Amino acid sequence: MKLVAGNSNRPLAEAIATYLDTPLARCVVRRFADKEIFVEVQENVRGEDVFIIQSTSAPANDHLMELLILCDALKRASARRITAVIPYFGYARQDRKPGPRTPISAKLVANMIVRAGADRVLTLDLHAGQIQGFFDIPTDNLFAAPVMVSDITEVMAEDNVMVVSPDVGGVVRARGLAKRIDAPLAIVDKRRERPGESEVMNVIGDVSGHSCILVDDIVDSGGTLVNAAEALLKQGAKQVTAYITHGVLSGGAIARVMASQLKELVITDSIMPSDAVVNAHNIRVLSIAPLLGEAIARTAEEKSVSSLFY
Ligand code: R5P
Repeated sequence: MKLVAGNSNRPLAEAIATYLDTPLARCVVRRFADKEIFVEVQENVRGEDVFIIQSTSAPANDHLMELLILCDALKRASARRITAVIPYFGYARQDRKPGPRTPISAKLVANMIVRAGADRVLTLDLHAGQIQGFFDIPTDNLFAAPVMVSDITEVMAEDNVMVVSPDVGGVVRARGLAKRIDAPLAIVDKRRERPGESEVMNVIGDVSGHSCILVDDIVDSGGTLVNAAEALLKQGAKQVTAYITHGVLSGGAIARVMASQLKELVITDSIMPSDAVVNAHNIRVLSIAPLLGEAIARTAEEKSVSSLFY
C-alpha cells in the first residue's frame, strides 16, 4: 500500500500514516510561477494499491485540481489501483438543480475524479447520501457518528440529552445519532412565511430542560447553527452543543460561533483547522484519522468497511 498526500490537509494525512504505520510516499505538489499545479511522485508505485488523501476544501478549485493531477500522475506511473480518500467532498451542496439553467456541480466533480483515473472513492458524511451514486466506481461514504458518540458519551454522560436537527433536511442524520445514543429527537423548522419577511424558527419537540445536541454535516457561515441554538434556548433548552462533521467555517463564522450562546461546537479534522479554530474558546476538534486509517486498511485487505459502523 502507498499513501500519497495532497496539500489540503497534511496533518490529517500524517495522522493516518501514523495509524497505518506506513510513511507517506515521497511526492511533491508545487506551483509554477503562473500558479499551474505540478506533481511529481518520487518513488516507484508500479503495481501498488495507492490511496490519495485530499479534501477538496478551500481553496476548493486548487485542491480539486491537485487531486485530479495526482490521479493522472499515479495512473501514468502504473499504480494498480487508485483510491481517492476525500474526507471533505467540496461541491457536495450542488447536488441538484435548484432552478432552471443551473448546474449539478457535484456530479461534474465526480465525473472529473473518475475520468482522472480514480478506481475507488472513500469519503465522509456526504452532504446527501445519493452523491455516492454520482461516482460510477465503488464509493464508501463513512460516518463520523462513532467518533462523535464516544465523545458525547464521555463529555455529556450525566446530561439530559436531546438530539436536534437544525433543519428539516438533516433529520435522517440527526435521527441516526439519536438512535445510537438512545436520546429523543427534536427538529428546528426554519420557514419564511412570505417573501421579504424574516425567517421564523419553529421548534418541533419539547426541548425544555434538555441539553441539546445540534447535529449537521457542514458548518459554513455558522448562520444555521447559531440561529438554531438561539431558538432552542428561547424554548427552554438548558444548554446547546453542536457536533458537526465538516468545519468549513468561512467568512466571519468563527467570530459568529464565539459570540454565540453555543456551549461548544465540536467538529472533525476532515478540513484542516485554522489557527483561529484551534484558538477559539468554544470550538473543539476531534480527529477522524483512526476511522479513515482503519477504512483504508480494510479496503487494502478487501475486508468489510461497513462493519465499522454496526
Ligand atoms: C445545509 O443543508 C447543510 O447541511 C448545512 O446546514 C449548511 O451548509 C450550513 O451552512 P451555514 O453554516 O452557512 O448556515
